[in-house]
Amino acid sequence: MHGETYWQSEIEKCHRMNLTRNIPMLKFLDGTHGVTETGHRLFVACTNDYLGLRFHPEVIESAQKCGCGGFGSSGARLTTGAHPLANQLEKELADFKRSEAALIFNTGYMANIGLISTVGCSGDVIFSDEKNHASIIDGCKLSHAKVVIYPHRDVGRLRELLNEHRSGQSCFIITEGVFSMDGTVAPLPELLQLAESFDAHIVIDDAHALGVLGERGHGTLEYFNILPNPRIIQVGTCSKALGSLGGFVCGSKCLIQYLCQRSRPFICSTMLPSSVLAASSKSLQILQSQPERVHRLKQLSEMAKSIFSECGMTFLPEAVAILPIIVGDETRTMKIFENLYQQGIYLAAIRYPSVPLGHARLRLSVCSEYGEDEWKDVLSRIVNTIKTITGDSHGRFP
Ligand SMILES: Cc1ncc(COP(=O)(O)O)c(C=O)c1O
Repeated sequence: MHGETYWQSEIEKCHRMNLTRNIPMLKFLDGTHGVTETGHRLFVACTNDYLGLRFHPEVIESAQKCGCGGFGSSGARLTTGAHPLANQLEKELADFKRSEAALIFNTGYMANIGLISTVGCSGDVIFSDEKNHASIIDGCKLSHAKVVIYPHRDVGRLRELLNEHRSGQSCFIITEGVFSMDGTVAPLPELLQLAESFDAHIVIDDAHALGVLGERGHGTLEYFNILPNPRIIQVGTCSKALGSLGGFVCGSKCLIQYLCQRSRPFICSTMLPSSVLAASSKSLQILQSQPERVHRLKQLSEMAKSIFSECGMTFLPEAVAILPIIVGDETRTMKIFENLYQQGIYLAAIRYPSVPLGHARLRLSVCSEYGEDEWKDVLSRIVNTIKTITGDSHGRFP
């Protein structure tokens, strides 16, 4: 079986397993509300725009002003040159991450692929957390290094694997700072100790930690009070808490220069439009001048945790912006999703292949701009819906 016949059979398989994905048509009215094509108004309880910067008037104004100089950037940075804002934003990102230098990629996905596929050479070994994002997995696949997967956040097992597989060449430990589907935080101090003992680099994908972790939202390093050093490489994206678009890698000047020479997603793809760079730069400035947004995000997250815990449903203590409600069964997850949708709450159902089969979940996330009363109301409706559908007064998923 091949081509259309195979594709059709796979589509039907998705239907049978309740794994079909549809692209929702949703026009956002502001950072937290959207309206469908049929006029159904929804509270969006699963945004990645954790600080509500996507709709910030100054961010929009910066993009509009800069867009007057032409929209597209017309080519890759090394061929047609780059708007000065690219260098400016890289300097700002490097300073924010307390790193020597930074390099912008078009997306966070490309940043991971561009970094990992370039630094992972033949004879090198990459140790990757089993729950790492698809872009890390794909970066590993594209590299020429040997890839060893370690159980989620299991430092003891990682030590054993390092002993077993560490070669004489370069070695990398790769982890997300905050895991995108679980909200768990990487055990960075222990990972760093291992990196030092085994002379490895550590790559931290802080896509969901920027603007969220640490007093001022600098990410996982700030959260653990760790200062960057040349062993630490930080990956990030402007597409989540900065409400914009574009990925980046922060590290030593030497690493960044090397990526400029060798990283194919950087070399061979048209640069982001300058309006996008302007928006990211403005968002970063607002984040730094308004740390209260980060504090409010934490308050609203605590509110969610306490409303859920009154019904015996708990989240990890360290989880802030990502509060996954793990249901397990795909059909039941979709039932809760659909019921909430009818009530005007959009809470994304995450299923295979984003998570393993049988680990389906509703990915509740927090935005600092949620109104308190509305957020409380949404949370209690989510809790009640779960209780009704599970038939369990504590909303447990047997
Ligand atoms: C951990 C992680 N890394 C990277 C990415 C990719 O970022 P972007 O959306 O900017 O491509 C994502 C996005 O979902 C993510 O969750």
